Amino acid sequence: MELLVTGGAGYIGSVVAAQLARAGHTVTVLDSLARGHRQAVPEGCERFVALARYGETDSPDTVELGITVSDRWQRTGIARLLIAELLRFAQWRGIRKVEGIVLPDNLPMIELAKALGFHAAHDYAQHLVVISKSLDSGQ
Ligand SMILES: CC(C)(COP(=O)(O)OP(=O)(O)OC[C@H]1O[C@@H](n2cnc3c(N)ncnc32)[C@H](O)[C@@H]1OP(=O)(O)O)[C@@H](O)C(=O)NCCC(=O)NCCS
Repeated sequence: MELLVTGGAGYIGSVVAAQLARAGHTVTVLDSLARGHRQAVPEGCERFVALARYGETDSPDTVELGITVSDRWQRTGIARLLIAELLRFAQWRGIRKVEGIVLPDNLPMIELAKALGFHAAHDYAQHLVVISKSLDSGQ
């Protein structure tokens, strides 16, 4: 049977996932890793769906956004949800600006950024697009 174990990177979830996998089921673990540990996910139960994160820049109140969603899960609204959550978290941490650098032909990312209220500025000399969103006035 194909089974989804939520919280499968936590103590109870990972034990349950391991037992189900040993019993012959195909197990997928869903976990935000907010409290669980990736190492706790039993072998064969981890599927990569998406990753969103931000990294520091030279400016202390500005971060750089990174997001990727695996092909199978694209266009299901995952990136929109993850970035919205990341923006809320950044704002809570006192971050004032989120930026990203995108290739001009990356229409999905540029459209997504615009849909989330980012400003997109074309830098024709560098052949890239800088997306940015100020968090000062809320989202
Ligand atoms: C860009 C990316 C993260 C979008 O992820 P996603 O989960 O498919 O996006 P969502 O389903 O949340 O889409 C939200 C909105 O983004 C825009 N969008 C997403 N994919 C699009 C596409 N192929 N064409 C046009 N617009 C697109 C749309 O406005 C969409 O809203 P809608 O579905 O209501 O029209 C994904 O395509 C990806 O991982 N690409 C490869 C990695 C990458 O380029 N990362 C960015 C580097 S800076």
